[in-house]
Amino acid sequence: MQNNPEFLNKSRVPSLTGESPSSIKHDSRNQLGGESLMIIGVPKEIKTSENRVGLVESGVKAFVREGHKVLIEKDAGVGSGITNTQYEKCGATILDSKKEVYDKADMIVKVKEPLPEEYSMLRENQILYTYLHLAPEPVLTKALLDRKVKGVAYETIQLEDGSLPLLVPMSEVAGRMSTQVGASYLQRDRGGKGILLGGVPGVKRGRVTILGGGISGTNAAKMAVGLGAQVTILDINPKRLEYLDDIFGGKVQTLFSNITNIEQTVPETDLLIGAVLVPGAKAPHLVTREMISHMEKGSVVVDIAVDQGGCIETCRPTSHKEPTFEVEGVIHYCVPNMPGVFSRTSTYALTNVTLKYGLMLANMGVEDACAKDKALYKGLNVYNGFVAYEQVARDLGLPYKPLKV
Ligand SMILES: NC(=O)c1ccc[n+]([C@@H]2O[C@H](COP(=O)([O-])OP(=O)(O)OC[C@H]3O[C@@H](n4cnc5c(N)ncnc54)[C@H](O)[C@@H]3O)[C@@H](O)[C@H]2O)c1
Repeated sequence: MQNNPEFLNKSRVPSLTGESPSSIKHDSRNQLGGESLMIIGVPKEIKTSENRVGLVESGVKAFVREGHKVLIEKDAGVGSGITNTQYEKCGATILDSKKEVYDKADMIVKVKEPLPEEYSMLRENQILYTYLHLAPEPVLTKALLDRKVKGVAYETIQLEDGSLPLLVPMSEVAGRMSTQVGASYLQRDRGGKGILLGGVPGVKRGRVTILGGGISGTNAAKMAVGLGAQVTILDINPKRLEYLDDIFGGKVQTLFSNITNIEQTVPETDLLIGAVLVPGAKAPHLVTREMISHMEKGSVVVDIAVDQGGCIETCRPTSHKEPTFEVEGVIHYCVPNMPGVFSRTSTYALTNVTLKYGLMLANMGVEDACAKDKALYKGLNVYNGFVAYEQVARDLGLPYKPLKV
């Protein structure tokens, strides 16, 4: 339907312009031969222990109100506490199979990137609206290019002030969780060195080092300070360091992120949290294996940035089923979909921010929506067989061809 010139000519932004939904003529036919403007498909997530879902009840209502049709794979919402009946009451249709959802939908709304078993279900011109994290993923990128999918990645939708509004809520969850998870792996019975982060009167507190003081790093620090740990945050952005120094009022040590400061701090750390991001790019390896080897045995690493390749050399992606491994006697926790297990909090937090852009894509189509909204334009990662996001193209050594708007 996206190729239908009639559809494009009649594109609109009711929710943003205030145009009344009742004034909209449903004039395009869709995959079902019906009258909805676009068919939105929500498959059940299949990544290990991924319990989030791409749309909640209010999201279904919003798409339906705008004249779209919403298809939800059976039980897609169960992990987030949303039943099939609840979705149906909001106007969605429940389909038994994932393939049916992919076959019929003009736009797929998901949480995590498609997995290999889903690649063949994607088709040319279908809009894929989800987290993609393509820079460290050549195989996934090739699959999306081969199938000429229009891939809009949540994590690169970027406002003019540089902020990433669709990454923020999940970074808040992952940041808070990183301290919680790391603290538990420091327990002796979980393989850790037996340090309680807050210590007790008369005994030293645990030391937490956070690389990257952005959204996830700041949230990790909030939890660590709350537990009474001794916290150090390293960042390369002096303005951010100034801000952190102000908001924590002397309760954290801020340090400029350079090799000397990292080399000195890492060996003295009980819990090391990786939280750096260069938007769209593969994460830089700031901590080497050599530095990890100087940490005490039973120390813990949580690399939140593992979804962008990780900022700690010894990290590799794990899953919620087997979240940790050991290198040089140091426990590594590197789960790329951390919020997936706090699904009821995370699904609602995520869909609060994705719906606005999802509606724009459905109402206008990718091309017009990207032409109208600069933030959304930055979300476009693959289009018509080419990488449309410069940093991803550079990291993967692929040609960069931005969408002309
Ligand atoms: N594992 C998960 O489940 C999960 C969940 C949410 C987010 N993430 C990931 O966490 C990472 C961080 O996300 P965020 O939202 O906090 O990003 P952010 O942009 O808010 O913060 C990143 C910070 O890293 C800093 N930085 C960049 N280069 C640095 C360097 N060399 N040394 C120190 N600091 C440096 C930046 O200045 C910035 O303050 C991203 O890769 C994101 O995708 C992972």
